[in-house]
Amino acid sequence: MSETTKIDKTMVPEHIAIIMDGNRRWAREHKMHRRDGHREGAKSLESVMERAGDLGVKILTVYAFSSENRLKRTKKEIRELVALMKYFIIKKRKDLFQRGARLGILGNVKIFPDDLQQAIDKTVRLLKKNERIKLNIALNYGARPEIVDAMKRIMNTCKDPSEINEELISKNLYTHGEHDPDLIIRTGGEHRLSNFLLWQASYSELYFTNVLWPDFRQDDLDRAILEFQKRARRYGQ
Ligand code: IPE
Ligand code: IPE
Ligand code: MG
Repeated sequence: MSETTKIDKTMVPEHIAIIMDGNRRWAREHKMHRRDGHREGAKSLESVMERAGDLGVKILTVYAFSSENRLKRTKKEIRELVALMKYFIIKKRKDLFQRGARLGILGNVKIFPDDLQQAIDKTVRLLKKNERIKLNIALNYGARPEIVDAMKRIMNTCKDPSEINEELISKNLYTHGEHDPDLIIRTGGEHRLSNFLLWQASYSELYFTNVLWPDFRQDDLDRAILEFQKRARRYGQ
């Protein structure tokens, strides 16, 4: 019996978030350029999104590029990543459309070249009526800058501190009050969140795997969902 047939379709996480880590180690292991690792990682994303959609996952949020990556990776690697993002956003537009995906971008994209920003806008617009699955891509994303931005927006609109509550903060995050991730997966063997969805992760189940992201297959997603289905979410009970 394959892993999928064991999945209880009535208990599939509504929102899965993934820290897609391990691309450069994968490239090194295969004696390839790190760019190839990132490219293979983009292929994993496509196939995982497809399986998530089939299983009825409503939101898939993926960490593709952090605000720390922007400060700490070389200019050359950032150029390679920008080229790949552009490729994905433009060349996969039709594909994403056919797969019924809506697109959301989390993070400060103003730092990216104009052509990438325009491509993002166009793709988001084109896909906005799709309902099968929402794909959120975190680009130049950091959870702390996200919270700082939310605070600024709230300070500009809300004059009475007693109006501030959890719902208002959630709505002002880049995820706009969307359902919080039920399951957060990190590939690549590290056991940390690296500034990803800190507010939204308060009751997420965490799943860590040593599999490097470019090797992560649909079966690996199934395994993570099966593990999720074994967990008892108590929410403090
Ligand atoms: C994840 O893979 C992708 C990005 C952070 C852009 P890495 O590039 O971090 O690869 P490793 O973790 O060094 O192998
Ligand atoms: C986290 O991976 C960010 C992304 C996957 C985009 P990193 O490789 O940047 O995280 P650290 O440096 O191991 O914490
Ligand atoms: Mg890494």
